Amino acid sequence: MSMSNVLVTGGAGYIGSHCVRQLLGQGWRAVVLDDFSTGFKDLLISDEWVEGSTLDKRRVKQILRDYDISAVMHFAACAYVGESVENPEKYYENNVQGTLRLLSAMREEGVNQFIFSSSCATYGVPNQLPLTEDHPLNPVNPYGFTKRVVEQMLADFSVAYDLNYVSLRYFNAAGADPGGQLGECHDPETHLIPLILQVATGERENITVFGTDYDTKDGTCVRDYIHINDIGKAHLLALKYLQGGGTSDVFNIGTEVGNTVREVILACEKVTGKSITMVVGERRPGDPPALVASAEKIRRILKWEPEYTDLESIVETAWAWEQKRTQVLSETAG
Ligand SMILES: NC(=O)c1ccc[n+]([C@@H]2O[C@H](COP(=O)([O-])OP(=O)(O)OC[C@H]3O[C@@H](n4cnc5c(N)ncnc54)[C@H](O)[C@@H]3O)[C@@H](O)[C@H]2O)c1
Repeated sequence: MSMSNVLVTGGAGYIGSHCVRQLLGQGWRAVVLDDFSTGFKDLLISDEWVEGSTLDKRRVKQILRDYDISAVMHFAACAYVGESVENPEKYYENNVQGTLRLLSAMREEGVNQFIFSSSCATYGVPNQLPLTEDHPLNPVNPYGFTKRVVEQMLADFSVAYDLNYVSLRYFNAAGADPGGQLGECHDPETHLIPLILQVATGERENITVFGTDYDTKDGTCVRDYIHINDIGKAHLLALKYLQGGGTSDVFNIGTEVGNTVREVILACEKVTGKSITMVVGERRPGDPPALVASAEKIRRILKWEPEYTDLESIVETAWAWEQKRTQVLSETAG
């Protein structure tokens, strides 16, 4: 199979930068397009990058031509659930309009392989667990709706035009590359593991747990934490699948193991050797009690297997990064 050139939108962000590292490691050429709205120049792994937005269709077309791109991995998006409720316009513009312009540029330039960063937020509150890909899509916030709209757009484009895509619905991305060069940083940080670890480093005083009265084994929410490099691995397999003539499809990426918030805190205490102060807060509206993936389909069709199957090993990589994050990232995003 020929190693072609891949455009990675959002390649200076948390998940995109890890995927760029894997692409380059396996001999692909990766060109990053990022507007640095939430990304970091320090996370740029590829020497080939362009500062710009997916909303700028003319620019995207130029990049597709200049770098002879044959596939696009599309990570660029706004990804804060709470902000999407307060400012849905920003989300529909960047996530939906930005993707539409990107797809339109691809169609006009004859680029027809697309890998999309979707989310378990497309499902909403589950009717049953584990969540399989055919579960109804009933998102409970504008962020989840933007992902659902893009998935619909992809399905329609693949019927009408010559587009082949894979949509990957990530569950909770976590951890960092063990090499220590890359890791998670969102501003503001909203993800559980970095928030807890920042209590361990002393950057925060405590961690607020939103709801301790859910119908789960210890009353706190259950989520499926998937290591960032296992997400990267799924992208590489999806790319090879499309290059091998695979048909458009949608896959979950998760470990199929649910962990409660309390279990995550305990794992962080064990890994860091520090005690973490927990504060009990109110439930957040729209937070499902439990989200756990079925990964049967991606195992079967893409032959994907997660390497990180236990929480502590994921937390260990996140902790190694957290201790050096402020040295690696010289500036904040935006
Ligand atoms: N982190 C998770 O747990 C998770 C779960 C499910 C899905 N996702 C999806 O994965 C993708 C990456 O998430 P992340 O956690 O790495 O977020 P991130 O904020 O770290 O990365 C997003 C990157 O995209 C860039 N960007 C945003 N809009 C852009 C635009 N219009 N043009 C060019 N660049 C733009 C940002 O500067 C940033 O570098 C997003 O699409 C997100 O919705 C993330």
